Amino acid sequence: MRRKIVMGNWKMNSNSESAEALLKGLAEQWTGVHQAEVAVCPPYPYIALAKSVLENTNIGVGAQDVSQHEAGAYTGEIAADMLADIGCQYVLVGHSERRDYHKESSELVAKKFAAVSAKGMIPVLCVGETLEEREAGKTFDVIGSQLMKVVDHCGLAGVAKGMIAYEPVWAIGTGKTATPEMAQDVHSYIREVMGPEGDQIRIMYGGSVKPESAEGLFSQKDIDGALVGGASLSVEDFVAICRAAE
Ligand code: 13P
Repeated sequence: MRRKIVMGNWKMNSNSESAEALLKGLAEQWTGVHQAEVAVCPPYPYIALAKSVLENTNIGVGAQDVSQHEAGAYTGEIAADMLADIGCQYVLVGHSERRDYHKESSELVAKKFAAVSAKGMIPVLCVGETLEEREAGKTFDVIGSQLMKVVDHCGLAGVAKGMIAYEPVWAIGTGKTATPEMAQDVHSYIREVMGPEGDQIRIMYGGSVKPESAEGLFSQKDIDGALVGGASLSVEDFVAICRAAE
């Protein structure tokens, strides 16, 4: 059985005050032992705060990106070693906002995935098609190619040490959620591409997940949880999504 997981991606939102309020709210509402695994990915400056506020909770902490390099003269970059050092358990790689706005290639994403894994953290590989690609019938090609670049670099067993988040670009921040069936189709395809490792790898869905849409998505057999953007900035909404995963 794959344990359900809900992760909050705060993106470039919050400040010390709102981050602390959000973290304290989560710590108060998500107490004790749960079936579902829960984690938040705040912006870098608030990761230490998250570690400290969530210290005695069952809420993990992750980062939203990482450098592919080990260390050295890379101004502005953050190494996997540093994230591991401050207690991050997860790191997102290849989010569509990075692929799009920062022109990150799948080759670069594969190197980041490997860098995270090498430091003992769980890489979360984000994949997803644009609306144009979906309408052209290229969804599986796009997802397959994004995934295979990482498989080529890390091997199937290497990818299976991490997790995957299917995030259709057209559903991110738009209020348009893929229907549970649409998401299920892609998740099932990802398992097929993962071959012998397909059964064990956890695949989250992301893209306008809200408390109202979570249960329908989680009832699909290949959807193992959610990567939540906007709704993860509200304690009530995020906790409601976490509860739906129980
Ligand atoms: P929204 O939930 O705001 O659509 O964002 C999804 C996402 O990109 C999570 O990584």
